[in-house]
This record gives sequence, C-alpha cells and structure tokens, in this order.
Amino acid sequence: MKKIKSIEDYHKEYKKSIEQPETFWSEIAENFIWKKKWDSVLKWDFNNYNVNWFLNGKLNITENCLDRHLSSKGNQPAIIWEPNDPKEKALTLTYKELHEKVCSFANVLKNNGCKKGDRICIYMPMVPELAIAVLACARIGAIHSVVFGGFSFNSLADRIHDADCNLVITSDGAYRGAKDIPLKSVVDEALKTCPTVKKVIVLRRTNSKVEMQNGRDVWWNDEIKKVNADCPAETMDAEDMLFILYTSGSTGKPKGVVHTCGGYMVYTGYTFKNVFQYNDGEIYWCTADVGWITGHSYLVYGPLLNGATTLMFEGIPTWPDAGRFWEVIDKHKVNIFYTAPTAIRSLEAMGLDFVKPHKLNSLRVLGTVGEPINAEAWNWYNENIGKNNCPIVDTWWQTETGGIMISPIAGITKTKPGFATLPLPGVQPVLLDESGKELQGNNVDGRLCMKFPWPGIIRTTYKNHERCKEVYFSTFKGYYFTGDGCRRDEDGYYRITGRVDDVIKVSGHLLGTAEIENAINEHADIVESAVVGFPHDIKGWGIYAYVICDRKRDDVEELKKEIIGTVNKFMGPIAKPDKIQIVTGLPKTRSGKIMRRILRKVAEGDVNNLGDTSTLLDPAVVEEIVKGAVK
Ligand code: PRX
Repeated sequence: MKKIKSIEDYHKEYKKSIEQPETFWSEIAENFIWKKKWDSVLKWDFNNYNVNWFLNGKLNITENCLDRHLSSKGNQPAIIWEPNDPKEKALTLTYKELHEKVCSFANVLKNNGCKKGDRICIYMPMVPELAIAVLACARIGAIHSVVFGGFSFNSLADRIHDADCNLVITSDGAYRGAKDIPLKSVVDEALKTCPTVKKVIVLRRTNSKVEMQNGRDVWWNDEIKKVNADCPAETMDAEDMLFILYTSGSTGKPKGVVHTCGGYMVYTGYTFKNVFQYNDGEIYWCTADVGWITGHSYLVYGPLLNGATTLMFEGIPTWPDAGRFWEVIDKHKVNIFYTAPTAIRSLEAMGLDFVKPHKLNSLRVLGTVGEPINAEAWNWYNENIGKNNCPIVDTWWQTETGGIMISPIAGITKTKPGFATLPLPGVQPVLLDESGKELQGNNVDGRLCMKFPWPGIIRTTYKNHERCKEVYFSTFKGYYFTGDGCRRDEDGYYRITGRVDDVIKVSGHLLGTAEIENAINEHADIVESAVVGFPHDIKGWGIYAYVICDRKRDDVEELKKEIIGTVNKFMGPIAKPDKIQIVTGLPKTRSGKIMRRILRKVAEGDVNNLGDTSTLLDPAVVEEIVKGAVK
C-alpha cells in the first residue's frame, strides 16, 4: 500500500477521496487479499441508515493479518509481549508462530462447539493469548465481543446477555501492577445470570485457585493439546460481522457497536500505515487495552494487516515505578509510541526523575488518543519524551468510527498542540449549529458530524438497528453525529472540545452517566442519584455524584465508602466517583427531568452563574446543593 509522502500528496489524495470516493477506496482495497472481489464499492443511505462497503466481496481478515506475511515475514516478530513484572521474561511471537497459535486455538474453538456467526465473549488480561483468541474467532467467522478486564460482573453479564454469547474465554486471574485480579470468579458470578453460555475456556496466568464447573469449564492448556495447527480461514462476506464492542451511551444500557469484515479491514489497515507512517521493521507500541477500540484497531488488526511488529504490554504505567513506559521503550527499542493523554498527565505529575534515566532515542513518532490533550501535556510529551524530535499525532476517532478520522499524518502535517488537525482522506467532517445548519468557513464552533461514509463506519448496534439510527442519525437529518463539540480554527484545523451528551470521558474511558447512576442505585439506602463530570487535572474529567439517601445516615464518610464499593462491585473501579454529595432532592423540571446543567455548574464550582432556576419544581434544592457542594 502506498503511503502519503508530503503535504501536497495529502491534499491530492484528500481531493481524490472526496471527488471519487469509490475509485479512491477500491484502489486501497486492492492492496488486500480477497477470496472474491467486490461487485460494487459502496451503497449508502444516512436517512434510513444503511451502509455497505465492498458489496459481495469475500475475505478473511486473518489471512490478511497472518497468512500473507508468512512467505516474506514469517520469522519477523509479529507480537512482542512485555509482562507486568519486569522480572518476568518478555516473549516474542513471529508471524509464523502467531499463525500457528491462532489456527490451533481456532480448532479449540471448533472442538468446543463454536461456528461461524456465534458470539464469543473474551474477558482476559493483556497477554498474547488475548490477541490469539480475537484472531481465532475471526479465523472461524465467530463474532468476538471483548470486554475490558476492569469491568465487574454486572457489566460483564449485561454484555454477555446482549450479545447472546455461547462461549466465554477468560483466565484464572490478571496481573495489574501489584494487584492480582481474579477474572475467573467475576465470570462465574456473571454467568449465574447468563444461561446462553455453554462453555468457558480458561487460560492459566496467575495460578490462582479457581472453581472449574464440570461440563462447562475447560483449561486452555488442556484443549490446545488436542488440536493441530491446520485451520483454513472461513470465507466471510465483506459485510459479515467481525466483532461487537460495547460502548457507553446516554441511557443506562451500553450499545453493541458492530463492525464488519471488509470495510474495517481496509480502513484500519490504511489509517495505521498512513497516520503513523509505519516503515517495515519498526517496533510499534500502542498502550491501549484490547478491551477498547484502540486496542482492537491499533494494537491487533491495523499493525498486523501491515506486517508490523506490535508490542503488547500487560502492566500499568506506574508500577514498579513511574518510569515503566520509558524503560519498556528503551528495552524493546520502540519506534512509534501511541498512548492516552491521561497517562501522559499522570506521568508528568510524577516528575522528570522517572524519565531521565532512559534514553528514548529509538522513538520516531508519538501519538495520543481518547480525549483532548491540553497544551501543557502536549508540550511535556514533545519535549521530554519526543526530545522535540518526534512528530505527535493527536488522533481523533471513536469506537463507532472503527479507525482514526481526524489526525496529523506523522511528520507531514504541521502540528499544533491540542489540535487533531485535518481529516484523513475519505473523511468529510462538518460543523453544524444547533438547528442543524452547516457552518461554513473557518473560525467556527459547532457539533461535529460526518456527511459521507468511510469504510470503518459503525454498521449497526447489535440486535437493535433502531437505536443506531436514533443515536447517530436522527439528531441531524442526513448526517452521522459524533456527540462531540468541535472548533475549526483560522487554519481549518479541527480541535475537539469535548462531549455534548450525557457521557463523560474519565481517563479516556467513555462512561455513561446513567450507567454509573444505575450502579450507585444498587446501594440499599440510595433512592436516586445524578452523575455529572467535572474537570480533573489528571483524568481529564472526574465523576461527581449527587445521591439521595432514603434514611438518615450520620456516618456520611462510611456511606460514601459503601457507595464507592457498590460502584466497584456492579460496574468496576473505572467508574468510581471522585466526589459524592448527599442531597435531599435533585433540581428537576416540572416534567421530572433532572437539570444536569445546574449540577454540572455546581460540580465545576461555577455557582454564580446557574441561569434561570425559576422553572424548577423546587428551586430551594439548588441552594442546598450549592451549600453542600464538595470542593
Ligand atoms: O469525545 C471524543 C474522545 O473520545 C470519544 C470516543 O471515545 P471512544 O469511543 O471510547 O473511543 C476512544 C478511542 C478512539 C470521542 O467522541 N476523543 C477520542 N480521541 C480524541 C478525543 N477527544 C479529543 N481528541 C482526541 N484525539
């Protein structure tokens, strides 16, 4: 696949992608292996949402990730795995080895009753077997639904239910810094309410004690001994589902975002190569967990589609100390490093002593993803990690977009701190005002929408196409609505200003306020709660919860601890509130709607500017809330 070589080349490619999108994308798709070529490139309708790319094309994404590299790169590392504990040995899997392991595990899946179209839930630590499990599903045409290991049993059960999974792949436990997290017991708890699951495959990782249920649970290591490594890749239609990945929305129930085989492959393959300007032989490291879309697209699929070497890290940035990322970069001579602003901010806060001992001279490109990066963190990253010598790609995209949409091309697009800069070829962003009018020209602020499909676009929300239409295609007729606010500056550069809906980005993780409220309300004494975000120095946004307790509790601190425990238990530690305020009422309109605008202002400490409160059912509650606000 050819790469964009200069800014002129970018503009030329961009123009072509807008004027002749079908020619543009079919030329890119030609770089992949298809079992049968597509009949037509694109069919689309944003009004009654339906998008198809590469119609009637047949392929298997794993042949593109693995088989086709065997002759030229069979002995090149595909995955370098760095364990949580620096004292444990790192592991390298060549393309040949990875291919063998994927095919073997695909046969294990078949032996355990899996077939094309089945949904398989993967709940695992960041070990090579996680990538192997994902690819093995794709090999046999089963649809993977990876659930982040930081979610607890309730969130896991919701996701297993929604996708009707019949098999779960997990491990005994997971190492995360100094902690040993018991994954299998979370699965056991979740499965009490998931009758569709007939089999659980358990990988041994921490050697912790687990309960194995007879007839249902089998060990990965036992099963793998029963198979060989011969597993032809299933033929998939371009529009067959590749995976479901759940993302939070404005309502309590997460949405099962569906991506399909052909378009997702073309889009992640193309964007990986171009955004990072990947050169053969380079070591690329994306720190995201495979439980999130970044891990799917830019740790597993994008790099492997390009025959790259992708580094997978099991641990956390601050253990054994805050120099761990930098140590790994030197150890494995990482050339491209892709991480989240929240990680950068937390490491910046730990001070330069953790950076200084490391050379970092293998680095060529740096990237960020997941949330806006403030200029200070961008500059710190640029100076101390990139040594003013590595272009930074601030990549804007979403679970629903499948791949990067707005981003500099490394070393080619002039960067500006805090700006995702320009749309990639094929991406047609527009800014709309509240009435849905397109804002023309530069120096404008609006709601970020897309007016034309790209191959990686969400196809549906699993089993609920109406929800997909409603969430993404009904706010502004004829457009895909991202949910983000955005500015286009005087240079035509895009800067994402943040969410405009009821979801919060906490440490780069998208969390629905309703989902957190549901978890809080599981506490026996809580009758109602309202969650909003507030600006947080490290996490970007923190979680502020207003809760109504149905009996007088004098032990407020204890109550707060219990609430945090409840959220941990039902949703997971990522959703833990930073501030909790006990209130006797919430500001509601006469129709019963919570006025979140007021709650947000109080959480932000901006109490002199609450706007009109006269339409509230009980304006007095606002006073009480302001008085009791948690600083
Ligand atoms: O608000 C934007 C923010 O993350 C949201 C998408 O979250 P998720 O689906 O979890 O995917 C994250 C990883 C792709 C967006 O709607 N976001 C993502 N990247 C950026 C960003 N905000 C600002 N700058 C970015 N580079």
